Amino acid sequence: MDPVTRLGVVGCGLMGSGIAEVAARSGIDVRVAEATPDALEAGRRRLTASLDRGVRRAKLSEEQRDQALARLSFTHDLSDMADRQFVIEAVAENRDIKTDVLRILDKAVEDPAAVLATNTSSIPVVDLAVVTERPAQVIGMHFFNPVPVQQLVELIPALLTSADTVQRTRDFAEQLGKQAIQAPDRSGFVVNALLVPYLLSAVRMVESGAAQPEDIDRGMELGCAHPMGPLRLLDLIGLDTAQAVAESMYEEFKEPLYAPPALLRRMVAAGHLGRKSGRGFHTYDG
Ligand code: CAA
Repeated sequence: MDPVTRLGVVGCGLMGSGIAEVAARSGIDVRVAEATPDALEAGRRRLTASLDRGVRRAKLSEEQRDQALARLSFTHDLSDMADRQFVIEAVAENRDIKTDVLRILDKAVEDPAAVLATNTSSIPVVDLAVVTERPAQVIGMHFFNPVPVQQLVELIPALLTSADTVQRTRDFAEQLGKQAIQAPDRSGFVVNALLVPYLLSAVRMVESGAAQPEDIDRGMELGCAHPMGPLRLLDLIGLDTAQAVAESMYEEFKEPLYAPPALLRRMVAAGHLGRKSGRGFHTYDG
């Protein structure tokens, strides 16, 4: 299949900015959309900071950073996605917001063969596909945080996704330098189905007073060679996102192991969202 040359990314939060960065660094023209000027500016800053960090870490030259920046354009208006061949939505993990975005994209993107991919972590892809007129070209393409570092992409064909769309998405993942696994269209797919109960168990351990966050994290880092313990990982993912993912999974399976613990809900209500707010199970500077 022909490589993708014009990509759209909707949402420039942690995931969207990472996806846009990886694509721009792979030589693709990327148009990024955000709903508000503030969110767009924050996304642009995050993207630039990550590219600068890449230069400092000698992952890319200043020239490559500048070339990547030149391939990125920003908009508030989803009708600017008209000429895109492939669009990934990476907006908040909220069914209504994602549904709205897919409906608008379906009308805005002119090429009827263009793929509309969703980076949802837990919402069944078929529920998003059926709001469009092109369900055969809707697929889950689930990236992992931090996107520039994690190699994996889960491909989630829904019941209505065509074999051609799966192949084009697999080729596109490869074009981005990622490795794909195919996952079932069940809430949580493969990785979160295993990861989320583990993360929530760590929250319950804190909630019950059984162990301190520092000890839980050190336990898994030093005892099992995880790059970060479960509470630091929750802080990286964002506690609001983790709560939303757990809620979708609980809604699907009604299994207590997916139910977000009260402590997680209270922390989200308090605005302790993890790294992005400066405080979660741990505190962060800057
Ligand atoms: N962008 C680009 N590169 C980055 C980066 C970023 N945001 N963050 C880290 N890196 C790179 C660094 O440049 C560094 O590369 P080198 O070693 O080659 O110089 C490397 O990653 C390690 O970074 P650091 O030394 O700064 O820090 P670290 O060793 O503590 O690693 C980490 C940080 C990469 C986040 C690592 O701790 C890790 O992999 N943690 C686990 C993350 C994980 O499990 N992610 C999945 C979350 S689940 C999810 O995303 C799905 C969902 O639906 C919820």
